[in-house]
Amino acid sequence: MIILGIETSCDETATAILENGTKVLSFQVASSEEIHKKYGGIVPEQAAREQIKYIIPVIKEAIKKSKISIKNIDALAVTYGPGLVGSLIIGIETAKTLSFIFKKPIVPVNHLTAHLYGNFINQKDSNKKSQSKIQFPALGLIVSGGHTELILMKKHGQYKWIGGTRDDAAGECFDKCARLLGFAYPGGPEIEKIAANFNLDNIKNQSSYIKLPRPMINDKSFDFSFSGLKTALMYKLKTIGQKHKKSLKTQLAYELQEAITDILVTKTLKAGQLFNVKSILVGGGVTANLCLRNKLKNSLSHLSPQVKLFIPDIKWCTDNGVTIAAAAYFNYKPLPLSQIKPNPSLEIC
Ligand code: KG4
Ligand code: ZN
Repeated sequence: MIILGIETSCDETATAILENGTKVLSFQVASSEEIHKKYGGIVPEQAAREQIKYIIPVIKEAIKKSKISIKNIDALAVTYGPGLVGSLIIGIETAKTLSFIFKKPIVPVNHLTAHLYGNFINQKDSNKKSQSKIQFPALGLIVSGGHTELILMKKHGQYKWIGGTRDDAAGECFDKCARLLGFAYPGGPEIEKIAANFNLDNIKNQSSYIKLPRPMINDKSFDFSFSGLKTALMYKLKTIGQKHKKSLKTQLAYELQEAITDILVTKTLKAGQLFNVKSILVGGGVTANLCLRNKLKNSLSHLSPQVKLFIPDIKWCTDNGVTIAAAAYFNYKPLPLSQIKPNPSLEIC
């Protein structure tokens, strides 16, 4: 089965053509990120306007690259939420128009659970570095700009939400803290780049190292809270004083990344043990972070070596059409056009 996936939930306009949910025939991503950079965050109206410009060229290019005629595409898949309503509408209305003209069914896809489907493309146990099959029950950690969620996957389409953030998402914490530190948007990749220049062993006076809190790390629930971490960083910056700020920014970027990744890894492993899962899958923009990827691998191989760990290829971590087409293949439920509507605040279950 060949599926064309369309993703327009935020500032990326992305498409992909997949065969049987795992073979990527082509993919194309356009982004309006550069425009949002100057505002330090996404401007929804602007993002929607850019979606209109990109959507047709991006679909055309994916079809051209796949060397498949649109006649041979069996179905369309489109993100219907969560996301920015203006952006979601562009993808959905485009999918409906193509469906009407070319007589193709549409599978509406939840953007959040789709993030975990990047793991089905090239199923590799990240610790054993070998091909391996995802086994259920699985635990999913979704960490993006707007979400931090832990879900239990009993099988495809059967999910139980077990925890999530009570305030800011992990990606949002990266983005907001980067802004406080004076780094560019999006903050996650910036913090990662700057933190890479810091080496704890090079600090002469180790007691001068500034520690940030790890909110809710030992809490019994599987909930998260990142807004306090952001506030703690803000107060540290205020007390440090203007003249030292610059030299300490690299250290704070490093410590922030340490704090966020410690919390994510600790909670994920605890949930994996409690629910006795066979696999752990992660997804979402923040999982592109190398510190998080390495900590997950190391901790799991020490604490639960029998559990398989799946981390998507970096290009399938941030928003893309591949995860949408893959999710649609494994949860194939086309709906009539009249029932497919944007749902900006769509939840997992
Ligand atoms: O999944 P995504 O592309 O879009 C949403 O669905 O939100 O995630 C975007 C988020 C942003 O907050 C961005 O700062 C973060 O993912 N991100 C990263 C990295 N790359 C993207 N965070 C940490 N390290 C990265 N390398
Ligand atoms: Zn996303």
